[in-house]
Amino acid sequence: MKNNYSNIFTFNRKILSKTINFLNNGNIAGLPTETVYGLGGNAYSKFSIKKIFKLKGRPKSNPLIIHYHNLNNVMRDVEINESFLKLYNKLCPGPITFILKKKDNSKIHSIASAKLKTIAVRFPKHRIIRSILKNINYPLAMPSANKSNNVSPVRASDVYDEFKKELKLIIDGGASKIGIESTVIDLTGDPKILRPGIIENKTIEKILKLKMKKNINLKNVKSPGMMKKHYSPGIPVLINQKIHDKNSAFIYLGKRYKNNKNFFSLSERYDLKEAASNLYKIFRLIKKKGYKKIQIALIPKIGAGIAINDRIKKASNTL
Ligand code: TXA
Ligand code: MG
Repeated sequence: MKNNYSNIFTFNRKILSKTINFLNNGNIAGLPTETVYGLGGNAYSKFSIKKIFKLKGRPKSNPLIIHYHNLNNVMRDVEINESFLKLYNKLCPGPITFILKKKDNSKIHSIASAKLKTIAVRFPKHRIIRSILKNINYPLAMPSANKSNNVSPVRASDVYDEFKKELKLIIDGGASKIGIESTVIDLTGDPKILRPGIIENKTIEKILKLKMKKNINLKNVKSPGMMKKHYSPGIPVLINQKIHDKNSAFIYLGKRYKNNKNFFSLSERYDLKEAASNLYKIFRLIKKKGYKKIQIALIPKIGAGIAINDRIKKASNTL
């Protein structure tokens, strides 16, 4: 079934086989996951990988996350270890990405992993992406479906707004439940978080029965998602704000300013997970409304607030 957009499709059996053929032919599709929408293509194909980098305008030095259906599939390409197995058993499929050593005979194309000796692997939970992964015999390289440095898309129409007709196939899987990108954890040495997400440090520490180091030295981390210039809504963003500047859009928690048109609540009930799921949607809405500046109130640095602060800080660094 089609909707207003000629390249956005509602998922059903027929669209599943259309998508599989499309991917088998080396094409790139906009696909839903529980975190954000991704730009998926065959991770074993140089042709497909090159297309993804080109579509996104992504620097060659920024590696892609490789998405698998299950453990059996991933063992072809990476060296697994004990920490990985513990986390996999408790958290997967789910919103977490693991950095592991690449096997010498891995079929992942070296361009996908930016010629690193490691690969980022993830097992997404959304039922649509799982049924696609189950029916293909290669993993999907899948960065977020936005042009490089833009905000990640959380609806099929956001993917359309990023790529218009450049993408021939976008699958509508509804609004992404989590709304921010997966937690990235490096498991090639002592476990360390490279990108905070909805799966928190304390959950990971409990499973692994250890304490992770805080304040890792960013200079030694080869994860461009950790770099300053990222996740930008394209207009100036000011964080930790107290006083509203007239004309700017003000993002906050609660419902104190419910009836003021310049105020946007991430969560009326102060729920930080809900706030995370609304962040990118609200960034896009504010941009569409034509505001020239975003102010964001102080967001507590606890629970999902840690991931929110990571993203808004990066958004505020870009301009
Ligand atoms: O939730 C997500 O992770 C989404 C959905 C679509 O799965 N994907 C996503 O991909 O956010 P992307 O490409 O936008 O972000 C991937 C991050 C980047 O910061 C990249 O630098 C890092 O993962 N990364 C990929 N491979 C890596 C590696 N081998 N070592 C360190 N960081 C890596
Ligand atoms: Mg991204």
